[in-house]
Amino acid sequence: MLRKALMTTQAEPVDVSQAKVTVVGVGAVGMACAFSVMVEGLCTELALVDMAGEKVQGEVLDLQHGTTFIRRVKVYGSKDYSVTAKSRIAIVTAGVRQQKDETRLSLVQRNADVMKSIIPQLVKYSPDCVLLIVSNPVDIMTYVAWKLSGLPRNRVIGSGTCLDSSRFRVFIAERLNVAPDSVHGWIIGEHGDSSVAVWSGVNVAGVRLRDLNPNIGTENDPEKWTDLHTRVIRSAYEVINLKGYTSWAIGLSTAHIVKAILGNTLQVLPVSTYIKGCKHGMDKEVFLSLPCVLGENGVTHIIKQPLTDEEKALLHKSANLMHEIQMGIKF
Ligand SMILES: NC(=O)c1ccc[n+]([C@@H]2O[C@H](COP(=O)([O-])OP(=O)(O)OC[C@H]3O[C@@H](n4cnc5c(N)ncnc54)[C@H](O)[C@@H]3O)[C@@H](O)[C@H]2O)c1
Repeated sequence: MLRKALMTTQAEPVDVSQAKVTVVGVGAVGMACAFSVMVEGLCTELALVDMAGEKVQGEVLDLQHGTTFIRRVKVYGSKDYSVTAKSRIAIVTAGVRQQKDETRLSLVQRNADVMKSIIPQLVKYSPDCVLLIVSNPVDIMTYVAWKLSGLPRNRVIGSGTCLDSSRFRVFIAERLNVAPDSVHGWIIGEHGDSSVAVWSGVNVAGVRLRDLNPNIGTENDPEKWTDLHTRVIRSAYEVINLKGYTSWAIGLSTAHIVKAILGNTLQVLPVSTYIKGCKHGMDKEVFLSLPCVLGENGVTHIIKQPLTDEEKALLHKSANLMHEIQMGIKF
């Protein structure tokens, strides 16, 4: 009864025992994902693919030379997708990235075209895989990948706001002087400028910050906690302005998602998922981040998180924006 009230079903469990991970795109983000997955010992085989063949070979050798120091893993790669056969998870990081002050949404058609050359190949060689999309704008690229793949919705996931939520927790933790993993706070919706901070639920050890400061996260808050959400939104721009790209945090956050899926841990994480028909009156065919239960078959359930009317309205705004942009994509 309580379980039914808490979550909606997305998938039936299946028995898949492979522990092979593919990473497509060996740029800054792809290699941070590959490195994190490898160092955490999450897979027995790691396949890298990129259209830049020599770069793939260089990265493969560089990773192989370090395997003395970690759990045994076979690393190989190619331009040819046959090396990806029988992957449990395929992480897609290929494509163009934002330049200084460029928004993620400006990348839509260019990266949708990149998806067309990648997704059918991945599905051909690994029809049972979970697709984990990282390329930006990630929510729209997850929708594009879902459309191109023909896979059930539970097996196409975007890295979504797992990273944004980490940034949010880190910033709140800095201000409260506690560890980030002891701060429970969720950024949902778009991984981007229209993301939604669920201030109504932020808590430490079950103590809701809104019970202590009723205006937290609003314009009327003299303590200006809402600046932390603005900082979350500005984070990627800030890092890109300083070092040209972001990599390490997205690598760790992606590996965290991979761990939940391969380990069938049923951990609840904010990832981008198909939200039409879920709670909050969502009627658009879009992918956005909500708290999802992750298991061996991808998203098994979406948690029905209580939201204020304002948070719901912001989530709808995010969904409408995604839908509007998706209408213009040429498949
Ligand atoms: N979801 C997130 O939170 C998040 C965070 C950071 C970056 N990103 C996105 O990740 C993507 C990659 O960023 P990056 O910094 O690694 O870029 P990068 O330029 O360093 O690497 C991109 C790689 O993709 C490869 N590539 C391009 N088209 C390809 C194709 N058709 N087939 C195979 N490989 C192809 C390129 O050869 C290159 O090696 C960008 O879209 C970026 O915006 C997402």
